Amino acid sequence: MTPRLGLLISGRGSNLQAIIEAVGDGRLEATIALVISNQAEAGGLERARNAGIETLVISHLAYERREDFDRALVEALRAHRVDLVCLAGFMRRLTAVFIDAFPRAILNIHPSLLPAFPGAHAQRDAWRHGAKVSGVTVHLVDVNLDAGPIVLQASVPVLPDDTPETLAARILEEEHRAYPEAIRLVLAGGWRIEGRRFVPR
Ligand code: GRF
Repeated sequence: MTPRLGLLISGRGSNLQAIIEAVGDGRLEATIALVISNQAEAGGLERARNAGIETLVISHLAYERREDFDRALVEALRAHRVDLVCLAGFMRRLTAVFIDAFPRAILNIHPSLLPAFPGAHAQRDAWRHGAKVSGVTVHLVDVNLDAGPIVLQASVPVLPDDTPETLAARILEEEHRAYPEAIRLVLAGGWRIEGRRFVPR
């Protein structure tokens, strides 16, 4: 059976687009079962619709408690028989309610070489810090922010005349290669977690 992906987004959805394309050209053997956005105006929703993928808006504002929002997400993903959840620019912190519902089956992409520069402004933070390399991390999600076992990383140079924007663009290109590849690795199975190390087959 082809594994079923559920994608969570909040914005433009360029990583979603990269995953759609990887599925389309056979680099990734998976079905995108559902795309959920917590923002009704997220550009990624249109990308999904254009690809004929089912979409859903679940606004966090409709829930008083984070756990209840997470329960609604879990319910929708379960109803679509999702095997692997991919966070792709999803800007809400998930609680244990969500994490425990998909053990070792949630991936996130982050635009820095973790554990350096966690948080919402990773590219700008790396640039301000004067890092000479930065990059992208795809990791399994646990209850700690930007901290689960690392599945894959790719680095890019930080050039002397970079701005936060040019650095972010260089990282984004790597993101679009890295995310489909990391999903492929995880779906291939046979890996294990040792300590906090993701050890592929
Ligand atoms: C990416 O930089 C990703 O690493 C971060 O949020 C951004 C989402 O971009 N988590 P997009 O919506 O996939 O274009």
